[in-house]
Amino acid sequence: MVAIVGPSGSGKSTLLNLIGGLDRPSSGDIALDGTRLSSLSDSGLTRTRRDKIGFIFQFFNLLPSLSCQENVALPLHLRGWPKTKIEERVSELLGLVGLAKRIDHLPEEMSGGERQRVAIARALSVYPPILLADEPTGNLDTATGAEILGLIRDLNQRLQTTILIVTHDMSVAHSAQRILTLRDGRIVDDKRL
Ligand SMILES: Nc1ncnc2c1ncn2[C@@H]1O[C@H](COP(=O)(O)OP(=O)(O)OP(=O)(O)O)[C@@H](O)[C@H]1O
Ligand SMILES: [Mg+2]
Repeated sequence: MVAIVGPSGSGKSTLLNLIGGLDRPSSGDIALDGTRLSSLSDSGLTRTRRDKIGFIFQFFNLLPSLSCQENVALPLHLRGWPKTKIEERVSELLGLVGLAKRIDHLPEEMSGGERQRVAIARALSVYPPILLADEPTGNLDTATGAEILGLIRDLNQRLQTTILIVTHDMSVAHSAQRILTLRDGRIVDDKRL
């Protein structure tokens, strides 16, 4: 688990978007799990992103018209999974994030912490090796943020998922094994804890 900190505008989100293949770098290259992203076509990049990366965001980015369950199932539907396999995986994922109840509720009927749990379950739908989290606790109160951070750490250990977490909160950063500090688009500090 690696934390990325730095002032606003230092390039934290840009870095995550580059690693996640949402943006392409104007120079340089990124190797993801041994694959150079610059060597991939657009469809190859999409496939790599789909299979290797889960994203979670500050504002959850759930689809408001879909229930909790349907939000989590969506990436699996897009991959053409059969219905019974989807149902099985969704209930497994919701158990993993501690959301066995309220699964038929819409996002607007859920608390911030519950919404982030749904978003985390969705990001993990195919158990990607890498989870990119852009200020996942930034929109939560302190206690709920701590709960979500605990869940993220637990997933890091239990699933052995690599987690890159952008945060403004040094106590969140200190729960990682490594802290990278960005300033003006460059890494100015690399601390191993
Ligand atoms: N698509 C883009 N094209 C050009 N410049 C961009 C683009 N997106 C962001 N920037 C610029 O790149 C710099 C880094 O932005 P970025 O959003 O990565 O910062 P950040 O560290 O995530 O900040 P914050 O903590 O406020 O979220 C900023 O100066 C921003 O204006
Ligand atoms: Mg940002």
